[in-house]
Amino acid sequence: QNSDSQVLIKMYSEAAKLYSHILLKTENGTPALKYLNGRDLDNGLIETFDLGYAPNNSNLLLQFFKDRKIDDSTLRKSGLFAENQEGELFDRFRDRVMVPITDEAGNIIAFSGRILNKSEGTAKYMNSPETPIFNKSKALFNLSNAKKAIRDNKSVILFEGFMDVISAYKAGVTNGVASMGTSLTDQQLYTLSRLTNQINVCYDGDDPGVEATYRALTQLNDDRFSYGVISVPNQKDPDEYIRSDGADKFKNLVENGVQTPMSFILNYFRRNYNLNNEHDQIEFLNRSLNEIVKLQSPVEIDMYVGKIADEMGVSKEAINKELDTLRRKMA
Ligand code: GTP
Ligand code: MN
Ligand code: MN
Ligand code: MN
Ligand code: MN
Repeated sequence: QNSDSQVLIKMYSEAAKLYSHILLKTENGTPALKYLNGRDLDNGLIETFDLGYAPNNSNLLLQFFKDRKIDDSTLRKSGLFAENQEGELFDRFRDRVMVPITDEAGNIIAFSGRILNKSEGTAKYMNSPETPIFNKSKALFNLSNAKKAIRDNKSVILFEGFMDVISAYKAGVTNGVASMGTSLTDQQLYTLSRLTNQINVCYDGDDPGVEATYRALTQLNDDRFSYGVISVPNQKDPDEYIRSDGADKFKNLVENGVQTPMSFILNYFRRNYNLNNEHDQIEFLNRSLNEIVKLQSPVEIDMYVGKIADEMGVSKEAINKELDTLRRKMA
């Protein structure tokens, strides 16, 4: 790493310390601390994740670095500040809970800031812009903490939200990561491939989360990995589920409730069809067979053929014939 990067990494580390101090030790941080404690994040967990608070209406961070004689060009490069119409810098993050993003080695390289009170026209989460040290498509939230657990568990859990990763960690599920709100990139997959060959997707249980899971499964076809799906019940996200149903139930879900992608996909199709209606039954069958035909393992194929045959009241022979036809079309 060049000295430019080292300066930026030092700045992010100092910024995180300042934000953390404000959250935990000052009156300015009290509402944010209450907010986090109200979400069952105790101070120990807050310290583990180096959470902080960026106060409202201030250029506290700007002043902090100016006092330390950081030059203007470095301030601009850091991404910690934005520029007004007069070209003056101001603190980019204001009145937000600050969630540090680290690189694989644990250096803080960016922040995601969550607004305390959802107000109209403001994004719930604001991320640092790309800088010489922060590449959004490379970073994985919590990877540095989770590395050992990913190796030990021989699997990584992919969550949608930072708060889900943090809650899961508290619940004892420590092999979780999250991307920066986007689907996994080749670079992120490469990083994970050095640690494990099992990716379990545990997105939110609401409709957008289920749609995102389906999309993820159709996009994730990197054959270095096997995939699994952990479906969170009752439209909840993992954090909400842990808080309502408890850590043990979530742990049990993670340990015993991993579905195969095909099982998830068949459920996903079932949601979208009225299976009391013959027209829908045929559509459901066709879509399902189009997925089953992609499977490699004869045993798995036979298993799902059996399930669909039972469910639809048709013979396995008929379904296998249909699969042969599909295979001929594909060849
Ligand atoms: P909480 O409401 O704090 O519990 O958030 P969450 O963890 O449930 O996040 P949510 O399911 O709303 O979104 C999942 C992820 O999408 C977040 O962790 C972010 O990475 C991303 N995201 C959500 N809202 C925004 C936004 O307004 N802007 C950006 N850039 N990303 C967002
Ligand atoms: Mn969501
Ligand atoms: Mn969520
Ligand atoms: Mn949400
Ligand atoms: Mn949430």
